[in-house]
Amino acid sequence: MKFKFKFPQFHPLQREIYEHPARYKVLCLGRRAGKSLYITAIALETALRGEQVAIISPIYRIAKEISFEKYLVPWVRSINKILKENNQQQLEIDLSDMQIRTPSGGTIFIRSADKPDNIRSGDYDLVIFDETAFQANLKNLWERVVRPTLIDRQGKAYFISTPNGYNYFHTLFTKELTDSNWKSWNASSHANPHLLPSEIEELSKDMTHLAIRQEIYAEFTSDGQLFSNIDDAFFDAPIKHFGERKVVIGADFGRMNDSTVLLAMDKEENLVFDGIRLTSIPFDEQEKEIRNFIEKHDPELVVMEENSFGKPIVEKFMNEGYPIEGFKTSNKSKVEIIDKLLFAMDNQNIHIDEKIEFSKVIRGELNSFGVIYTDTTKKYSAQSGHDDTVMALALTNYAKDSANSFFISLI
Ligand SMILES: Nc1ncnc2c1ncn2[C@@H]1O[C@H](COP(=O)(O)OP(=O)(O)OP(=O)(O)O)[C@@H](O)[C@H]1O
Ligand SMILES: [Mg+2]
Repeated sequence: MKFKFKFPQFHPLQREIYEHPARYKVLCLGRRAGKSLYITAIALETALRGEQVAIISPIYRIAKEISFEKYLVPWVRSINKILKENNQQQLEIDLSDMQIRTPSGGTIFIRSADKPDNIRSGDYDLVIFDETAFQANLKNLWERVVRPTLIDRQGKAYFISTPNGYNYFHTLFTKELTDSNWKSWNASSHANPHLLPSEIEELSKDMTHLAIRQEIYAEFTSDGQLFSNIDDAFFDAPIKHFGERKVVIGADFGRMNDSTVLLAMDKEENLVFDGIRLTSIPFDEQEKEIRNFIEKHDPELVVMEENSFGKPIVEKFMNEGYPIEGFKTSNKSKVEIIDKLLFAMDNQNIHIDEKIEFSKVIRGELNSFGVIYTDTTKKYSAQSGHDDTVMALALTNYAKDSANSFFISLI
């Protein structure tokens, strides 16, 4: 007697992928398209036949929370309930090693690529890469580590991801052009008919235009200019008197040949209305100019980059009682504040007064500011020349949010 577990019925794209005979399948799909549900279903189906499956995620946490706990464990528990009711041998769940063993001898191993040696030992019938475009050293992992584990059993492989620029995932995506063992699919989040359009809208709400292209429409986007509607941000703003504005300031300190840039924003109008840009000026004179600028605007908050050159100034001004918040720049924190700026620019939520003496410099630096995709992440930087005014703009925009944050006093 056979016991049946009812998987959710595949939606049309999942079915098309399932029925295709290719040995290697590359799925470049939008968020919520149904990737995880699909791979869990085929992993279980394969293991229940007595075969060996590995699901490989870029990091342990994704492997555990998404591949293992979200779909696999609940489904295995539901299957076990049916088997138990019918006095049949159940599937074993090994929570600490993240493995599932089926009565027919099949296994699902959940692995993260930060420990590739775990993957090396074994022969598989099916290997599934989840979040493939974000796997570090994907080329090496696939060619040197995983591909050999498929040889003995003529194993199959899936590569599933939203895109991340033209990295090695894209190379795999194009293999179908030269090799009939490979087949690729590219579809947006809308391919999932179970997803309400309002859910996609909700998902897109806080995304930049670039993120929407990548994550909803699953487009491969190239390195290049980041900000698109730059002209819309600039205009000739009406002049207001001192005291009529609630002001925040962002400050980026120049090293070597860069400029030190401070920008002042009216936080109610989201209007950047004044700024100073100091180039090749001795340190003590810079300090004087910065102090004058801050005093002139009586800001609620000044966010200052506190790396290298900035740190002593941040400390000094803080000790003098100015409302200063230090900002440590790393690639990660830079991406965060630039994303916020990009979001504000996309939504016309930041305006820049053309009367600022160096507004043309800001415009130029916004134009040449770009995104570069690396193996697993993205980097933002000036493609030519400088990015001091863009960083100051991002810090100013961040200062507005930070000034509006709710604080609880700890001491
Ligand atoms: N065939 C299906 N039948 C019913 N619901 C489905 C089906 N496929 C996916 N879903 C539902 O759609 C939603 C998204 O599915 P899933 O988590 O598999 O997407 P994903 O592409 O992995 O998303 P993410 O990009 O967030 O990782 C879930 O609520 C899931 O239950
Ligand atoms: Mg998923």
